[in-house]
Amino acid sequence: MNQTYYLLRNREIPDIDQMAVYRAHGGYEALAEALKQYQPEALVDLVKRSGLRGRGGAGFPTGVKWGFLPKDGRPRYLVVNSDEAEPGTFKDRELIEKNPHQLIEGMIISSYAIGATEAYVYCRGEFLYGSEQLKRAVKEAYEAGFLGSNILGSNFSLNLFVYRGAGAYICGEESALLESLEGRRGNPRLKPPFPAVAGLYGMPTIVNNVETIANVPQIVTHGAEWYTSMGTEKSPGLKIMSVSGKVNRPGNYEIPLATPLRTLIDEYAGGMQEGRTIKCIIPGGSSVPLLMPDQLDTPLDYESILQAGSMLGSGGCIVLDDTVCIVKASARLVKFYREESCGKCTPCREGTYWNADVLERIEAGEGSERDIDLLMDIADNINGKCFCPLGDASIGFLVSAIKHFRDEFEAHVREHRCPLGAKVYDTVNN
Ligand SMILES: Cc1cc2nc3c(=O)[nH]c(=O)nc-3n(C[C@H](O)[C@H](O)[C@H](O)COP(=O)(O)O)c2cc1C
Ligand code: SF4
Repeated sequence: MNQTYYLLRNREIPDIDQMAVYRAHGGYEALAEALKQYQPEALVDLVKRSGLRGRGGAGFPTGVKWGFLPKDGRPRYLVVNSDEAEPGTFKDRELIEKNPHQLIEGMIISSYAIGATEAYVYCRGEFLYGSEQLKRAVKEAYEAGFLGSNILGSNFSLNLFVYRGAGAYICGEESALLESLEGRRGNPRLKPPFPAVAGLYGMPTIVNNVETIANVPQIVTHGAEWYTSMGTEKSPGLKIMSVSGKVNRPGNYEIPLATPLRTLIDEYAGGMQEGRTIKCIIPGGSSVPLLMPDQLDTPLDYESILQAGSMLGSGGCIVLDDTVCIVKASARLVKFYREESCGKCTPCREGTYWNADVLERIEAGEGSERDIDLLMDIADNINGKCFCPLGDASIGFLVSAIKHFRDEFEAHVREHRCPLGAKVYDTVNN
């Protein structure tokens, strides 16, 4: 199908990761325009008017967040979250590996808007190539005078640092990320205060996702009205969806928000592979409840998905087909959260272990009918009782799986085996 690219222009412009190519296609013109045509407050206002919402998961309005910074003369920081460890989500990886200058340009404009003189990118530990790409592009940007002192002859100066974490999912949570960036163990901080008030080194800090900031040059170039002309009033603009599972063309797709889920799967991702049908869909990364095939007409925007019982989250759309054992899928995901729980609070630290153990029992055909209720009971003891959202994330899929596919859990218990013949998920060998 025909696709117009904005954020994923790397798909049609080879070598756009190189400064010369990026500039030949209009790169850094948005920065020049921002510095020349806008006072910082006017840029914050532009982003507010565009309605851009954070693409890291929660969908918080970006311009509103920028407006929370206290005006008290303290140094301010911009930190870009490139931790991207949510299973099923791989959009930020493409953005930093294939078009690093787009992010860097967005960071310079955003730093100018919020009054930051230092900016950081926190990369997931496994993103070795992506972080190297960013470092190379940052060097090019310094050489071209887009970073450093008096950028493009203005009185705005910015230094930009690329930091690679050690590979912990919890370091994607913004306050754990800041702890890690400061050199400590990545445990979440108590909120409030939120990072906008007391963030990196205790200073006012804006933490934004890679995709969020990559949108900023586009909004400066094309205007707020262009952005609000796509999507809905509350969810305007573009979103990159990562599609995985047994579809014909898994990958990242840039869609106007409110595109129906069916269009994403059937048209963008080329439909299901021959002989496969959809069992259920996780629309927003592994932390969100599943949607059923009769919900395929749900528009992919924040409000519609919430109304349908799930969340847009990070945009990781995992399509599970009819050969997938729902107990095995639940065990696989719960074990991920068990491994990634930082251990700071009891409901998450203990609950993820309990759920993983019980699921392993059921999967191996050794569970009892009581175990299914036990899973729901443990989930209830996690829900809303944890120090950070990872706890709730660990049960999002599980609870919805039991709700929609209880008969499949019961069949494992009754028949003492997987009715679909799936092998038991084994953390070591799978
Ligand atoms: C366990 C956990 C993991 C997270 N991982 C990420 C991540 O990898 N990338 C990201 O941008 N946000 C992640 N977030 C959300 C961040 O805490 C934060 O809300 C986000 O970076 C803000 O950026 P935005 O406003 O641009 O969405 C995570 C949150 C939690 C609770
Ligand atoms: S919910 Fe889990 S990850 Fe978050 S603080 Fe508690 S133990 Fe750590």
